[in-house]
Amino acid sequence: MLICSKTGSSSGIGEGTALKFASLGANVVITGRDELRIKNVAEKCRKISKQKAIEVRADLTKESEVKNLINKTIDEFGRLDILVNNAGIGKFSSLDDPNLMQIFDTTMNTNVRSVLFVTSLAVPYLEKSKGSIVNISSVLGLKPVLYFHFKKSFRFLFYFC
Ligand SMILES: NC(=O)c1ccc[n+]([C@@H]2O[C@H](COP(=O)([O-])OP(=O)(O)OC[C@H]3O[C@@H](n4cnc5c(N)ncnc54)[C@H](OP(=O)(O)O)[C@@H]3O)[C@@H](O)[C@H]2O)c1
Repeated sequence: MLICSKTGSSSGIGEGTALKFASLGANVVITGRDELRIKNVAEKCRKISKQKAIEVRADLTKESEVKNLINKTIDEFGRLDILVNNAGIGKFSSLDDPNLMQIFDTTMNTNVRSVLFVTSLAVPYLEKSKGSIVNISSVLGLKPVLYFHFKKSFRFLFYFC
């Protein structure tokens, strides 16, 4: 039984890879903030696979919701084999933007802090299962352009740690 928890699986790249994991026979945890989109993706997974697709709504910038995501995964399956750090937002701003620091905080909380926190909670289970962590980054992480690209560089650096 392979269990894959994938952040940001309610749309886009996350949805696509959740469907791929499901088609390969993994049980998947579909998560994001939008309950309707989560439900739709989970239903698609169930249509293509006999394995389970559970739905867990979680805002990754809120520690209690991240804890709930990991707890629900373990309560349901008893193990975790793959964590995919995919959820992310892309917000651009210039140094004279009056909302610069608010955009910075939201971006860093979503794309950097949450990755560290969810991974720290998942690692004890991944060590037990000898599982894997997949970090979805961007080629932009290799180019230094203000903070947007720092957040992507973080996922490369995190991989090498
Ligand atoms: N698409 C590209 O061309 C591209 C290129 C390079 C890198 N990437 C990276 O690949 C990843 C996925 O990109 P995408 O294009 O598939 O984006 P997307 O369609 O906008 O999907 C982003 C996912 O992240 C979730 N998410 C965002 N903020 C969240 C939060 N605070 N808590 C929980 N979930 C949150 C969203 O769920 P809800 O909206 O339901 O919360 C959604 O499921 C991102 O990290 C992105 O930076 C994408």
